Amino acid sequence: MTMSTSIHGMWSSRFAFILAASGSAVGLGNIWRFPYTAGEYGGGAFVLVYLLCVAAIGIPIMMAEVMLGRRGRQSPINTMRTLAQAQQSPVFWQLVGWLGILSGFLILSFYSVVGGWTLAYTLYSGLGSFSGIDAEGSAQVFSALTNNPWQLLLWHSVFMVMIAGVVARGVASGLEQAVRFLMPALFVLLLAMVAYAATEPRAFVQGLDYMFRPDFAEFQGRAGEAILSAMGQAFFSLSLGMGAIMMYGSYLSSQASITQNVVIIAGMDTLVALLSGLAIFPIVLATGLEPGSGPGLIFQTLPIAFGQMPGGQLFAVVFFVLLLVAAWTSAISLLEPLTAWLVENRDWSRPVAAITGAVLIWLLGIACLLSLNVWSDVTLFGKGFFDLFDYLTSNVLLPVGGVLIAIFSGWVLSRHISVAELIGRDTLGYRIWRFLIRYISPLCVTIVFLNAIGLI
Ligand code: TRP
Repeated sequence: MTMSTSIHGMWSSRFAFILAASGSAVGLGNIWRFPYTAGEYGGGAFVLVYLLCVAAIGIPIMMAEVMLGRRGRQSPINTMRTLAQAQQSPVFWQLVGWLGILSGFLILSFYSVVGGWTLAYTLYSGLGSFSGIDAEGSAQVFSALTNNPWQLLLWHSVFMVMIAGVVARGVASGLEQAVRFLMPALFVLLLAMVAYAATEPRAFVQGLDYMFRPDFAEFQGRAGEAILSAMGQAFFSLSLGMGAIMMYGSYLSSQASITQNVVIIAGMDTLVALLSGLAIFPIVLATGLEPGSGPGLIFQTLPIAFGQMPGGQLFAVVFFVLLLVAAWTSAISLLEPLTAWLVENRDWSRPVAAITGAVLIWLLGIACLLSLNVWSDVTLFGKGFFDLFDYLTSNVLLPVGGVLIAIFSGWVLSRHISVAELIGRDTLGYRIWRFLIRYISPLCVTIVFLNAIGLI
């Protein structure tokens, strides 16, 4: 008794699913988080581990999420419960959905603050604040913003309103239109930024070398933590482990090929991250900035390039608007599972559900933005709220969610269901997927965890 449609709506085509899922995947994670995390761990070796994680863990888990979502056709909590019941397995599995709601909550609270920075930077670009700016000036613009709680609050609030607005209307109708043209435009602009970086061949080659020559000495005695962060970045960037992709899979038609779509989505996501690194690292290295300087990295470096290039002001405005759209389409997918669950279980209307969720997350976001200034002394495990939520979600919650999804798909769900959903026949490709999902993902994630906490 599988359902062929979801009560929340359906994508109008397979193409719409690809757009929405890549809209979820491609976001601040690629352009803001990837470069600064790679920079923190010295570049090349981190990038290599990240790519391996995308291929061996990320793609199989993404396939599993889409498969489970399409099979269950509800919010992740109810999907997991229904599928577990159908296998006569304990309802324990709905924990995956609950964990996802928690991750989405925590991620969106700091994500929205960074989305707010993007809004602020769109305005600054429009005002011409970056013309002729140097590294020091650019760092000042950034710290003036992050030191001002009221400014941060304003932008964070605007961003949350934008998200709640779309989710309240229903993702399948609101989102498709936005992503159709703007995502390709962002891609073209990033290419242009890379081309601009290449006009200074020396710096560009340095950047290439930094990103693609793996040297494990870069991990400087903290390999366990570096590998965990690279894996966490793969989960974060692909939107895995919290049910966002599961939710989007639930709106996908039963005819579409999961494998093919997932490979396209993961491929685009990875390409955007690499392009963003290629646009940024040449500037970082040429201006003598510290690649490991943290979450401000792109906001401190890109303005320098915009300030120098001809037509830079217009270019900067367009770039930040597109980055904003990328952040927006990702943030929507963070709020969607919670909203769908409230609609299903509490029988709330979609607008009420979306707005309630958004208000709670907005409140938590205030703790994040205050941790950058007035609450900078308040720490837990040595980190402020912003850094703590960022670290905890990517490096712990998402991988745990992902492994549970892998174990469920590989060990609990009957084989004939995954065969039918993924490919229709028991092919070599299917066996490779099954091997990765049953053994490789759970083992790798466990080993990386144990290693990071020093047990092995
Ligand atoms: N992948 C998005 C990005 O790179 C962020 C994101 C959206 C996300 N939905 C998610 C991360 C779900 C983890 C889980 O910006």
